[in-house]
Amino acid sequence: MKSCLVCNSTIEPFLSFGKMPIANGFLTSDQVRDEYFFDLQVGFCHRCTMVQLTEHVDREKMFHDEYAFFSSTSTRMARHFGEFAASVRQDYLRLPDPFVVEIGSNDGIMLQNFAQANIRHLGIEPSANVAAVARSKGINTICEFFDEQLARRIVAEYGQADAFLGANVMCHLPYLHSVAAGIRILLKPSGVLVFEDPYIGDIVEKTSYDQIYDEHASYFSVASISNLFEQHDLEVVDVIPQNVHGGSMRYVIAHKGARTPSPAVATQRAKETEMGLGEATTYEKLRRNIERSRDDLMNLLRDLKSQGKRVVGYGATSKSTTVTNYCGITPELIEFISDTTPIKQGKLSPGAHIPVRPYQEFVDDYPDYALLFAWNHGEEIIEKESAFQQAGGKWIVYVPEVKVLG
Ligand code: SAH
Ligand code: TYD
Ligand code: ZN
Repeated sequence: MKSCLVCNSTIEPFLSFGKMPIANGFLTSDQVRDEYFFDLQVGFCHRCTMVQLTEHVDREKMFHDEYAFFSSTSTRMARHFGEFAASVRQDYLRLPDPFVVEIGSNDGIMLQNFAQANIRHLGIEPSANVAAVARSKGINTICEFFDEQLARRIVAEYGQADAFLGANVMCHLPYLHSVAAGIRILLKPSGVLVFEDPYIGDIVEKTSYDQIYDEHASYFSVASISNLFEQHDLEVVDVIPQNVHGGSMRYVIAHKGARTPSPAVATQRAKETEMGLGEATTYEKLRRNIERSRDDLMNLLRDLKSQGKRVVGYGATSKSTTVTNYCGITPELIEFISDTTPIKQGKLSPGAHIPVRPYQEFVDDYPDYALLFAWNHGEEIIEKESAFQQAGGKWIVYVPEVKVLG
């Protein structure tokens, strides 16, 4: 029996993925013996509707000085965060000498836009290796975990913030009440929190179950987020769907009563009711869809293997750790995974132990099929790799359904 991160009610998992390793825990062969595993299970809270993991990995095991995810590997995401920063500047930085704080600022992909414009800023990034990259770009960064205590220290040292930003990080934090309390302390009376994360509505619609892994402690909806922040006298004042990472939602939160909520908030909540995001049966159905997706993918991979086809993975994403381990994809089915991130290359994928190879090896000897683990960057990748398809190569995707393209 587990209790809800937000309201403390008892939660029963609706799906168990079994034993899983750290999603970004790429490892050398001599580290295999000590590889860490935990029970990956996801549950739905009947009382407050928050979808969440029921067991959490210690944050120091996931975020440290060898963190494998560097935000700036995607040019599409760099453009996205340029636009994100521009909209924040235009809508929320109206007072003189504004101060912007970002949680989970990684290698500075978002804050570089503020630093270049000489706007006062502060990044909070506990993974030392990615924080060092941000610093080398001239971005002020503190290497710590954000929580209520850190918020107090930041206010004492720098003053309150006009904007507190976060992308793909709020959903990583099981200590949601400490974070919300910290944000309330950190924001000026007119300040806003603007953050975005993968949206549970998209996960349900697209069966994108690979968003579920150790780092993603919660899977937000407008309803579940509103309930959380209301408990801290904060209010959702805008929501804007984003076409990144397979479907995300951007939320704008302000002190209660400080801003008039946009009609988009009520509209999205009505859509959530229609989609059944507050009902347990929706997640039972999701579980069945996930099981079907797993079976379809394994049937396809086994079939290709029996035909003697070469299949490689494209993008050693953290999401792929869920897919390979849950489905049972082994190095016999997938020769290697191609990835452009130096820290992942030459290592083994977590749990499944599929070799991760430099991108050049994919180009030098195209396989018959490439399983697109980085499907969320699909448009960017498929366009960039047109030569692969021209050479007769085919893409395998599994979101929203298992399919061979081309
Ligand atoms: N914002 C970037 C990075 C997302 S990955 C992007 O969207 O691409 C999540 C990041 O949050 C990691 O770099 C991780 O080190 C960081 N993180 C994890 N816990 C945190 C915490 N408590 N406070 C601040 N950052 C945290
Ligand atoms: P991403 O899907 O952004 O994140 P997550 O780890 O959270 O699932 O990861 C993309 C991975 O794919 C990253 O390791 C870099 C790699 N990649 C390539 O190898 N080539 C590319 O063209 C792109 C866009 C990404
Ligand atoms: Zn709850």
